[in-house]
Amino acid sequence: MGDQALLGSIKEAAQYIRTQYPTAPQIGLILGSGLGVIAELVENATVIAYHDIPHFPVSTVEGHAGELLLGTIHGKHVLLMKGRFHLYEGYGVDVVSFPVRVMKELGVQTLIVTNAAGGVNTSYEVGDLMVIKDHINFTFRNPLIGPNFSELGVRFPDMSEAYSRRLRQTAHEVASEQGLKLPEGVYAGLTGPTYETPAEIRMLRTLGADAVGMSTVAEVIVARHAGIEVLGFSCISNMAAGILDQPLSHQEVMETTERVKPKFLQLILGIVAKLG
Ligand code: 6GU
Repeated sequence: MGDQALLGSIKEAAQYIRTQYPTAPQIGLILGSGLGVIAELVENATVIAYHDIPHFPVSTVEGHAGELLLGTIHGKHVLLMKGRFHLYEGYGVDVVSFPVRVMKELGVQTLIVTNAAGGVNTSYEVGDLMVIKDHINFTFRNPLIGPNFSELGVRFPDMSEAYSRRLRQTAHEVASEQGLKLPEGVYAGLTGPTYETPAEIRMLRTLGADAVGMSTVAEVIVARHAGIEVLGFSCISNMAAGILDQPLSHQEVMETTERVKPKFLQLILGIVAKLG
């Protein structure tokens, strides 16, 4: 996509969304595999299919519906993406992060991202929720490569607090109120679609990763560039390769996220209630 074309596409997509839901959303939510149930939290939702939004891509993977919900949670206006775009689908980082650009244009100040991830830290258990403390970009792609749009953000964005300390603190407060175990860890983002080999998982662990997945990194980079505060969660849907003596499957990912749904819903609800 050309540079001016990108700016035009952001504005056109945002303008269409405004015609469907005139109030500016403060909070954006991006839901990962099998986590679409969080959409049940949105009150008085306006539902917009991705294919109706100009320049919006459509997601292709099983377990990812392609719709945007706008409505309220605890009286706060939210924009929720049910289904996201992944590098393994063949989309570029520009496409994967495009919805975050549109969120910024609409006024979003806080982004909550969720994903299903493999547990790399051997102290984790399947079904745990992890709050993302930091990430490692193992996709080796960056959505900000190319001319910088100074109206969107600076040329060399600081990533020393990609995942807001303040919001993580809020997440821990809510988790402890709810009696929920919530470890903090580092998310390694890879392209997929293969899961990693046991040797790759040992490498990732050595390099400081606690969980591994196929999303989130490009979206968070674009959000930080735009000055959006980010909170991220991984649902440990399975242990990564070489930890348990069993093969990995998308089926297990879906089953775990389904099982974890009630505690995940409560956590997100509790956090949104506390956001300013
Ligand atoms: Cl083990 N690896 C990656 N890359 N993504 C995942 C996963 C593992 N488990 C769920 N998503």
